[in-house]
Amino acid sequence: MKKMIVTLVLITSLLRASADEGMWLPMLLGQQVYDNMVKKGLKLTKEQLYSINKSSLKDAILIFGRGCTGELVSNQGLIFTNHHCGYEAITNASSVEHNYLRDGFYAYNKDQEIQSQLTVQFLDRIVDVTKEVEAGVKGLSWNDRVAKLPDVFKSITDKVLDKENGLAGKVYSMFKGNQYIMYVYKTYRDIRLVGAPPESVGKFGGDTDNWEWPRHTGDFSIFRVYADKSGKPADYSLNNVPLKPKHFLPVSIKGIKDGDFAMIYGYPGGTNRYETSYGIKLKNDIENPSLVNLRDVRLKLMHEQMIKDPAVKLKLADTYATVANYWKFFDGETKQLKKFHTYEEKQAFENGFAKWAKGKPEYENIFTEYEKNYEAWTPYSKHRQYINEGIMGSALAAYASSLIALESALTKSDASEIKKAADAATAARKTYLVDADRPSDEKILAATCMMFYNDIDKSQHPAGFYEKLKENYGDLNEEATYKKWAKDVFDKTIILNDDKWNAFAASPDVATLQADPAFMYAAAFVKNYNDKYAPLYTAFIIKNAELGRSYLKGVMEKNPVAAKKMYPDANFSMRVSYGNVKSYNPRDAVHYDYVCTGKGILEKYVAGDYEFDLPAKQIELMKKKDYGQYIDKGRKDLVINFITTNDITGGNSGSPVIDGNGNLIGLAFDGNYEALSHKIAFDKDLNRTICVDIRYVLWCIDKLGGAKNLINELTLVRN
Ligand code: ARG
Repeated sequence: MKKMIVTLVLITSLLRASADEGMWLPMLLGQQVYDNMVKKGLKLTKEQLYSINKSSLKDAILIFGRGCTGELVSNQGLIFTNHHCGYEAITNASSVEHNYLRDGFYAYNKDQEIQSQLTVQFLDRIVDVTKEVEAGVKGLSWNDRVAKLPDVFKSITDKVLDKENGLAGKVYSMFKGNQYIMYVYKTYRDIRLVGAPPESVGKFGGDTDNWEWPRHTGDFSIFRVYADKSGKPADYSLNNVPLKPKHFLPVSIKGIKDGDFAMIYGYPGGTNRYETSYGIKLKNDIENPSLVNLRDVRLKLMHEQMIKDPAVKLKLADTYATVANYWKFFDGETKQLKKFHTYEEKQAFENGFAKWAKGKPEYENIFTEYEKNYEAWTPYSKHRQYINEGIMGSALAAYASSLIALESALTKSDASEIKKAADAATAARKTYLVDADRPSDEKILAATCMMFYNDIDKSQHPAGFYEKLKENYGDLNEEATYKKWAKDVFDKTIILNDDKWNAFAASPDVATLQADPAFMYAAAFVKNYNDKYAPLYTAFIIKNAELGRSYLKGVMEKNPVAAKKMYPDANFSMRVSYGNVKSYNPRDAVHYDYVCTGKGILEKYVAGDYEFDLPAKQIELMKKKDYGQYIDKGRKDLVINFITTNDITGGNSGSPVIDGNGNLIGLAFDGNYEALSHKIAFDKDLNRTICVDIRYVLWCIDKLGGAKNLINELTLVRN
C-alpha cells in the first residue's frame, strides 16, 4: 500500500498526453503538465499559478456559496460569479416592489450593498494525509473502514481547526479512495450583493438555450467580501470593511481569437470517468428517465403558476431553476451516452481489464462482483428515484417527512428532547412557508402520488396506503381521485394552519401528528423506503465503492504509462484545466463559430417572451451599437459569449477564464449539449465550455447599469 501512495502522488503531477481533458490539482502540477500549458500559450511561472508562500492566482479563486466558484477582481474584495450562482441571493433580496431579479440591481456606493446569507471560502493550503488516514483504518474490513473514516477525517481536521481565523480542513478522497488530501479553507461570512443584470439578461434564453451553444446569456452577478478591521472573517456588521485580498485578477478587454490559450480555475463538483458499463446501463435505463419524467411534471405545474403571478415567480424561481437545470442535463446525458456508444466502449475496456486480471486474486473477480451488486439493487432503483424526485418533489410532503424526527422524539417521551424537536419543527416550518405555493404544490402532490402508484411495482408500495386511498377517494386509475385527496390534505393538515400548528407545537402529542394527512402520507412512503430499501442502497453504494477503489488501482497497475496521464475525478476540490478558445462542428455539415455577438441577441429577442425578452434600454443601445471600449474591433460588434475546449463540470460555474498572462477574459457558465455525457467521458472533439465574454459583462455594468463605480475598481488591461 505504501508504494502505491508514493506512485499516486507522482501520478497527479504527470502529463496527460491527449488534447484538453483533465482537471488538475494546481498544487501538484507536474513539470510535464506545466510544460504543456506553456506550449499552448501560458506565460506565467508555476509559482504564479500556485504558491503557499507568495500570493498567486489561487488566492483570487473562491468557493462561492454551496456549489459554485467565484473570483476576486479588485483590491476591495469585489467578486464576480455567475448570475445563476447568485440567483438565490438575488431572489431573496427581491420583493414584488423591489424586484431585483426582474429589473437588475447595482450598488452605486458601498452603503447600497445588500447583506446575504452567503459564505465564500479561500483555499489556504493543502496537505496529503493518505498516511494518517490509512493508519487510522488499518486492518479493518471494508465495511468497518467506511464506518470509521468520518472519525478518522475528523481527528485529522480537528488539528487544523482555528475558529478565530475561520480556518477549517476538509479531507477529500482522490482516485476513489486510493489517496486522501486535506484542503484547509478560510471561510468569510459577510458577503454582500453588489450587482446583477435584469434576469432577462442574466438568464437570457432560459431553459431553451440552457446547456447549448450558441448562447447569448449575460450570466454574471457581483458580490463583495467583508472582513473585520484586521482582515479576519466576521459576522455581518456595519463595522466590517472590504477584504484586502492577497491577489485579484486584472481584467482584459483586449478580446480573443480562435486558438487563444484559456485556463479555468475552480471547483468542479463531480465526475465519474471510471464509471462501469453497469453503472451506465442503470443510469440510461432507469435513473435518468425516471428523474426526467418526474421533473417534467413538477416543472410544468410550477411554471403554470409562476407565469400568472410575479409573487409566485419570486417564491419558486430558485427551486424551479435548480430542478430545470439538471432535468435537461440528465435527459441530454443519456442521449449523448447513447450517441457516443459509451456503454459499449466501457464494456470493451472492461473485457480487456478482465483478461489482464485473470490469475490476479486482487482483481480477477471485480466484474462478477459488480454484476452481482447491480443485480441486487436494480429492482429498487426506480423506487428510490420516485421517492427523491417524486414524493419529495412536493414541498409540503418534504416538510412533512421531516416531522418523523418529532414523532420519534414523542414516542421516547423525554420532555427536553420533545421540546427541542418541536422547536426545530416550528423553525423549519417557518422556512418552508416562506416559499410555499399551494396551487402548484397541491397539483404536484396529486400527480406524483399517482405516478408512484402507476410506475412502481405494487409489491414495493407502502402497506395499506393506496388501499385506503381507494376506499376514501375512489378509482386509483383516475386523476380525479388523487386531486380530491390532495385538496383534502392541504385543507386539513395542521402544517398550513397557524392556530392548529401553534396549539400542537405548544404541547405536541403523537396522536395528532400521526392523524395529520400530510404527515401520514409522507411518513408512509419515507418509512417504507427507509426500512426496506435504504439499507439495500447503502450496501450497494458501499460495495461499489470497494470495487471502484480496487478497479481504479488495477487500471493504473495494468497500464502504468496511461496511469501517468491520470487526474483524480472531480470532487469539489480546486482544479485547473487548460485548453483553447475553439470553434467546432456539432454534426455533419454544421460549423459553430467560437464567439457569438450582439447581432445574435437581436435575432433571438422576442419582446415580452418568458425566456427571450430584453430590457428596452439594451435594445436601444444595441441598435445604436453603443459599445464604447467594449466593442470587438474585428467583428465591429459586442461579443457576448465564447467557447473553449476546457474540461469543466457543474461547480465550475462562475469560474474565471484566464488568458496566458493571468488576466480575466470571461466567466465559465455552462457545458454544451453535444458533450453532455462529460461527467462520464470527455469527448476531445465535441466538448466545449461556454463562457460569458468579460467585455459583455462590463458593458452590462457600465452602459446598461450605469455602475461606473464598479468599472473604476477594476484593473483593465487593454493590450
Ligand atoms: N447549465 C448551467 C450550469 O449548470 C446553469 C444555467 C442556469 N440557467 C438555466 N436556464 N437554468 O452551470
